[in-house]
Amino acid sequence: MSYPALFSPTVIGGVPVRNRVAHASIVSRFVRDGRATDRLVHYLGSRARGGTGLVITEPVAMTFANRSPDRLRGWDDGALDDLKRLAAAVERWDSRLLGQVQDPGRGRHATGRNEYAIGASPLPDDLSWTVPHALTPARIRQLCDEWAAGCLRLKSAGFSGVEISAGHGHLFHQFMSPWSNRREDDYGGDILGRTRFLRELMAAIRAACGRPFIIGLKLPGVDGVPGSIDLAEAAQIAAAVAATGNVDYWTFVWGAHARSLWTHMPGPAGPRAPYLPHIRELRQTDPSIPTGAIGYITDPNEAERALTDGTADLVFLGRPLITDPAWGEKARTGREGQIRYCVSCNTCWRTVVEGTRLECDNNPRVGEPDEVDWQPVRAAMRKRVAVIGSGIAGLEAAWVAAARGHDVTVYGASDEPGGRTRLHAELPGGEHLSSIYDYQQLAGRQHGVKYRMGAPVDAATAAALPADAVILATGSTLSVPAFIPAEYVTEGVVHDLRGMLLSLRNRKTKETGRVVIFDQDHTEMTYSAALRLLERFARVTLVTPRERVASDVLLLNRQSIYQQLYDRRVEIFTCVEPHSLDGLEDGCITLVNVYNGDATVLDDVAAVTFATPRVPDDGLRAVFEAAGKEVHLAGDCYAPRSVLAATRQGYEVGMAV
Ligand SMILES: Cc1cc2nc3c(=O)[nH]c(=O)nc-3n(C[C@H](O)[C@H](O)[C@H](O)COP(=O)(O)O)c2cc1C
Repeated sequence: MSYPALFSPTVIGGVPVRNRVAHASIVSRFVRDGRATDRLVHYLGSRARGGTGLVITEPVAMTFANRSPDRLRGWDDGALDDLKRLAAAVERWDSRLLGQVQDPGRGRHATGRNEYAIGASPLPDDLSWTVPHALTPARIRQLCDEWAAGCLRLKSAGFSGVEISAGHGHLFHQFMSPWSNRREDDYGGDILGRTRFLRELMAAIRAACGRPFIIGLKLPGVDGVPGSIDLAEAAQIAAAVAATGNVDYWTFVWGAHARSLWTHMPGPAGPRAPYLPHIRELRQTDPSIPTGAIGYITDPNEAERALTDGTADLVFLGRPLITDPAWGEKARTGREGQIRYCVSCNTCWRTVVEGTRLECDNNPRVGEPDEVDWQPVRAAMRKRVAVIGSGIAGLEAAWVAAARGHDVTVYGASDEPGGRTRLHAELPGGEHLSSIYDYQQLAGRQHGVKYRMGAPVDAATAAALPADAVILATGSTLSVPAFIPAEYVTEGVVHDLRGMLLSLRNRKTKETGRVVIFDQDHTEMTYSAALRLLERFARVTLVTPRERVASDVLLLNRQSIYQQLYDRRVEIFTCVEPHSLDGLEDGCITLVNVYNGDATVLDDVAAVTFATPRVPDDGLRAVFEAAGKEVHLAGDCYAPRSVLAATRQGYEVGMAV
């Protein structure tokens, strides 16, 4: 067996657990009007079936006050059947299901304030500026009883325990932090006062649910807010909570509702598994408590090492199990090469905060009934399918169509598949994106896809392609902004950002002047490119007519981008645009404020480049249609959008052809 530590059984809080792989709590938005949808049942069931020993649900509304349409109704006997369905879907695979106890308190990461917020003290949230209603001691005790009753309801439905989310800046975290808790009663002051709420809650749950019944904890590590919780404070909190004897496992998580929110989901901006050394240190406050490793662990080797080097007893995976529910089973059976790996893009987070349901850039089927080791039903008739374009939309369509039995050939203009995503994967922070096209190619090869790379298709060759159906996935081109004369681009005086990156690939020297990036794009790749350009130019200057840069990047990633841009002294000019490049020969560009017309002159300009709205490259469509072919469009050539839209549409087209 591969990864013997990861797949060894254990006992947590008296409950047998078949292996050490744990699904960290993930809000799914698969709950509607407080009811579990089939998609939620499939989602959790698939993670259990796919080899996860311990599955933590998203937060359940355990109290009436905690209710919301997108939370399960743990406070309501009327919801018992729903809860039983979920428990059965997970426990039937010999996996243990735990419900999460959580209240955001004053925290809110969606835009706007949290109207119903409760908290320790009437002080503003560091992200949304919500000021909560400060709970009275009587209300705290009442809430503990209500939460305990909710936990008992979960137990009676067949759940093996609960996890209290006391980190990530939520309510219990707010009570434990000296920054957000300034109370002078029994629930504030020293460590014992600030941890009292959590300790009483655990005692109430234990009294109601007895043993064996797992009570797990997510506790704060470093929350990144000055005057709040650092490692020393975290250790004191852990010690106070451990002394209750009610902690069946714990893990430590970073960040709060503040500028540090992004640190709760670390990613490629920093090292892999960055918190494990600290978690190893914090577990020493009580080594007898089973400890969970968590945070940017995507690879089974990393997980195994976290268990064998004394860091942890369990490995929690959040994002990686969204991407591949069979992560555990594939690792256990030595098929780790077939894992569809998380690329740590955080699109999942965006989809639950800003969208309508959990989705993933690298898994177009999150929550479908047959997600584990999914293979499509074969098509009624085998067709010859030509996929024009080898970006991620085309590659997804290709492997799915081939898995349905079609005879598929991909025609790529460049030598290597991956398209724009491959270029992004070469940039700082983009590295993991290669997992998307690597998986697609692997799956394609398994199903007999033929790849003709370095073979651009033009109008002359298109009509002659041996194909019954064509999938056009030819991508897009950056539009040239009005202030740049078209001949500057054709003559190579100015490159678009992609061209600029390609032109610098083999250059080792560094320019003394600045490069100006005109930014109307506002997606991640532009800022990854800015960081790369810092290696080639003395200064990098971002110029945008919008109110801020990275407007179209989700909050967490935007925070991380700002941290990096400001750390590296990238200059940012907002609400401005150049009107011409007249001064470029003298190394100058004049920026004009889009509201009042005021001018700012940038000197020492060595180069200008632009990241602008993309224009679909769909010219071959008419050619194929004229030839009477069945034509499908996928990705940017349909409409320039996100990675998520590209893989999703590739999948849909692969299913439709
Ligand atoms: C989409 C999404 C939703 C999440 N929802 C919750 C939640 O409701 N409760 C919680 O404690 N953590 C939540 N988390 C945080 C994860 O449980 C986990 O701590 C974090 O993603 C780091 O683990 P990872 O690097 O393996 O993804 C969420 C994370 C994501 C990506």
